[in-house]
Amino acid sequence: MRIVDLRSDTVTTLTDKMHLAMKKAEIGDDGFGEDRTTNKFEDLAAGRVGKEDALFVPSGVMGNLIAIMVHTKPGDGLICDRNAHINSMASGNTAAVAGITTCPLETDTVGNFDKEELESHINLDQISTPKTTLLVYENTNNLAGGTVVTPEAAYELSMISKKYGLRIHLDGARIFNSSVAQGVEVAELTRYCDSVMFCISKGLSSPVGSILAGSKDFITQARRFRKMLGGGMRQTGVLSACGIISLEEMVGRLGEDHDNARLLAEGLAKIDGFYIAMETVQTNIIRFTFNLPKLNCRKLIEDLERRGVRAIYFNGNFGRMVTHKEIKRADILYALEEVQNIVASHQR
Ligand SMILES: Cc1ncc(COP(=O)(O)O)c(C=O)c1O
Repeated sequence: MRIVDLRSDTVTTLTDKMHLAMKKAEIGDDGFGEDRTTNKFEDLAAGRVGKEDALFVPSGVMGNLIAIMVHTKPGDGLICDRNAHINSMASGNTAAVAGITTCPLETDTVGNFDKEELESHINLDQISTPKTTLLVYENTNNLAGGTVVTPEAAYELSMISKKYGLRIHLDGARIFNSSVAQGVEVAELTRYCDSVMFCISKGLSSPVGSILAGSKDFITQARRFRKMLGGGMRQTGVLSACGIISLEEMVGRLGEDHDNARLLAEGLAKIDGFYIAMETVQTNIIRFTFNLPKLNCRKLIEDLERRGVRAIYFNGNFGRMVTHKEIKRADILYALEEVQNIVASHQR
């Protein structure tokens, strides 16, 4: 059966060049700082995001958690989007591991905070409420539909944070998608944050890993928390070798994923039962709602799965499709045809 896997860009497989690079990588024990390929990758990554230093971590979840642990102390509070990955998809680690209370805020359709509301939730003095010490936001915003945060919006958030002495951690799991979509350097998007995490294992096609970047001092502390969480690894050069290729060769093709996402979104929007806020289709993620009298979103996604077209069902009428390297234009057309067939079969 033909499979068109639109669940996530995490399903991307490594390229032939990555396979070869893994085999040839100069490796050593990263616990002793002796893995030359990882050292090179971390230097390259720090440079790309315009930070002093960087650390290779096993996952985006761990990278975000480490950043939160460095920037806060147990009992503090952080502010983020209600739908942020750290709030809704990291198994509650902010509370369970870091001891932090999250103050999740509603954002608008494209994931922007209401600035006044944001400011009104920052607590510095009220002793019965956790002291706000950190703001976390995503660029791109996953559950808003892969929407971008512009350099101007990032600057505005930094001004608010500065006013109240907050730190900013940027969950930039897909920051390269944001950079390509906006035609701006990644460093322009990371300039105003104290730390940034980005993933190489999503659209950039590496098999494993993320980067956490910030000041030298931040990374020194992050290294200790990585160890504490069991994220210190050994011959990581086999993975870093892929990361180097991700940064040097895989960024340029992300525009193709964005074009395919638009094609898919425009096609879905024409099918009965679908609603897509087109202004949210900015990169490679399509957030949609679907409902028909005889077919709900969950059932649609189950029926699609049986036909080899895979999407994610979240809750209510809400589902998601993501384009990536394995998805070609022909796959999009095929997926649209299958969706149309299922919908038509429930309308007879
Ligand atoms: C915005 C965002 N942050 C963090 C993560 C976590 O990354 P990982 O799956 O590598 O732990 C994801 C994963 O999809 C994500 O979308």
